Amino acid sequence: MKFSLRFILPLIIVLGSIAYGLVPLVDMLTLKWFVRDLEMRSRLITNTMNEPLAQLILTKSTSKVTNFLNRAIQDERLFALGFCDEQNTLRFKTPTFPIALQCDNQELKNEGRGDLVSESKGLLHVAVHPVESEGQHIGRLVIVHDMSFIERRSGDTKKYVFYLFAGLAAVISLLTVVIAQLSFRGLVSGIRALVKGEGLLPLSQIKSRELLPLAKDLRALVRDLEQDRRVKDEAQLTWNPQTLKNILHEDLAGDEVLIVSNREPYIHVRRGDQIEVQVPASGLVTALEPIMRACSGTWIAHGSGSADRDVVDKKDHIRVPPEQPVYQIRRVWLSKEQEAGYYYGFANEGLWPLCHIAHTRPTFRSSDWKQYVEVNEKFAKAVIEEAKTDDPVILVQDYHFALLPKLIREKLPNATIITFWHIPWPNPEAFAICPWREEILAGLLGSSIIGFHTRFHCNNFIDTVDRFLEARINRETSTISHGGKLAAVRSYPISIEWPPVWLKKQKSIADCRKDIRTINNADQERLLGIGIDRLDYTKGIIERFMAVERLLELHPELIGKFTFIQIAAPSRSSIEQYQHFEAQVRSLATQINQRFGSEGYQPICLKIEHHTPEQVFKYYRAADVCMVTSLHDGMNLVAKEFVAARDDERGVLILSQFTGASRELLEALVVNPYNIDQCASALQVALAMPVNEQKDRMRSMRGLIQEFNVYRWAGRMLMDAARMRQRQRLLGRIRLSESSLQEGTEL
Ligand code: G6P
Repeated sequence: MKFSLRFILPLIIVLGSIAYGLVPLVDMLTLKWFVRDLEMRSRLITNTMNEPLAQLILTKSTSKVTNFLNRAIQDERLFALGFCDEQNTLRFKTPTFPIALQCDNQELKNEGRGDLVSESKGLLHVAVHPVESEGQHIGRLVIVHDMSFIERRSGDTKKYVFYLFAGLAAVISLLTVVIAQLSFRGLVSGIRALVKGEGLLPLSQIKSRELLPLAKDLRALVRDLEQDRRVKDEAQLTWNPQTLKNILHEDLAGDEVLIVSNREPYIHVRRGDQIEVQVPASGLVTALEPIMRACSGTWIAHGSGSADRDVVDKKDHIRVPPEQPVYQIRRVWLSKEQEAGYYYGFANEGLWPLCHIAHTRPTFRSSDWKQYVEVNEKFAKAVIEEAKTDDPVILVQDYHFALLPKLIREKLPNATIITFWHIPWPNPEAFAICPWREEILAGLLGSSIIGFHTRFHCNNFIDTVDRFLEARINRETSTISHGGKLAAVRSYPISIEWPPVWLKKQKSIADCRKDIRTINNADQERLLGIGIDRLDYTKGIIERFMAVERLLELHPELIGKFTFIQIAAPSRSSIEQYQHFEAQVRSLATQINQRFGSEGYQPICLKIEHHTPEQVFKYYRAADVCMVTSLHDGMNLVAKEFVAARDDERGVLILSQFTGASRELLEALVVNPYNIDQCASALQVALAMPVNEQKDRMRSMRGLIQEFNVYRWAGRMLMDAARMRQRQRLLGRIRLSESSLQEGTEL
């Protein structure tokens, strides 16, 4: 219907215009041309006939003249001839000469002119020209042309013109229909693609070579606009759980989200005949838990608690958080050997020191590697079991699962796998010592996106791939193509939720200060410094204690007035290096306490025990200064938590320059933890800092964390995932239409 309209309508319009406008115009023009032609012809005939005619007239032989005239009108177009003398008498004429034409008619008196005369025989053209003999005017030759042949020709011309234009109209109409169809479809699909954020057709889809440069420019423009829009969107959004939910529902259309990490967010431990729930001291858990609360997916993790098996259902699931369950944990069980080889061995004695340049030598054992491979396979199986769709969004966490992305990809090729590496990535020289470096890199490259906290770590990773794998690297787009698969390398600085959930139940700052001083046998005026870490050699706890010692050396007036409380959550304690480290920390604390302590006063208060997040936040709120002196750290969320806990805008943060956090928290007192004197002096500055300066610095850092919170961290990753999936779907559709086109051609 639409097609016929699009075809017939222009055809009717064109034919109508031909009939009512074009044909009469052509008719009029051809008549004009023919009349002009006849006039020239008449002049020519007169010139040719003038001399013989004048001679014959002088002979006065009527028959000779008439014969001469009759011979002349043999010409098909010459209809009649006549001769008017000076007395306006028609002296000679051919038999065909129209009776109506009289020499004294005005038309026959106008020499050199032609006129159209309508006769019973049809339309005639009458021209009158002088006849001279030896320069003397002796009469007029009347030349009558038959116009019927002109009419005939004009009829033919009209017919041909009509056919020609009708043909042209048909072709034009057909072309209009085809072009309209094509461009309409192209336009619609183009607009549709743009609206969906799918961009333009890939260049390979553009058949016309001439359009390629234009398409390239257009594509670049769309990419820029998209980039621009993204930056603007991100900046304009207020990041909170609802924003994340919106992304999950709108951008990801409710797609399935799975998280995989070694450490679980809630650990069930047996205390006598009671089961206690613990939240582990892990930056990773701190960051991911609020995300899971927002998106209600499944978190797959190692069930490491002594009572973990007692609380799960038949499918090893448990719904959490215990007080208000909104998502589920799927627990994966590991044997003692698996845990020893995979977790303690390869992950924490191999990869952990390898990636943290903290001068602790990594240990690589092939037996650990074997377990690492086995456990990664076990988790891959769990992911496949949990996935309800063939294209879930899977967030793989950290160095425990370097092989997992590739293993999942083999089974779920359509999954969007985002792997986040929470610890630093070293330079290629440092990474080179790992005996299974190629396997680890290839495993990670099974991801759709590989995320790090900083651009610096992204670059280290790309350089490492460049050094050890056959891969195509595009540094401009930060993508790596390996084994026919493309992975993007992106930086997403991790953060904390804002406001932190643990802040809700906190007492006032004054009460926290009072309580903490009381618990720790300190008078209410005591200046307090705190350090909150896992008991890990990368955290710079030794250096921190040395700085406290140096401070008291340089400022003896602070002895008895300043105490540093170190909360150190026991961690990985079956690893020899950690045991050795604990002994070192304990001994240094004792040494300093012996040197500067006295009855009722200890400059260092070391608490090697697990604290709940609520307790930790109470310490943050009670302290005058917080020390984060990691020797190397991907981000360090303690620094951000301390700032978030200080809604009084007081307290000073001392922050190691070797943390990712120091790139963002510029108002902290940034130190080199290896420079003990510098750290001691930072401590002294912090303790003496005027309230206004504390407030200015805190306010600025709080503003930053509020905006760059963990919802933004996760949201950016999920938005990138959503964009990739859209592109993937578009490619799928193009491939589909390509194959159906091919099938069509074959048919
Ligand atoms: C770091 C790692 C996490 C880990 C956490 C605690 O933050 O990046 O993956 O969970 O330390 O260590 P743990 O070995 O106790 O899980």
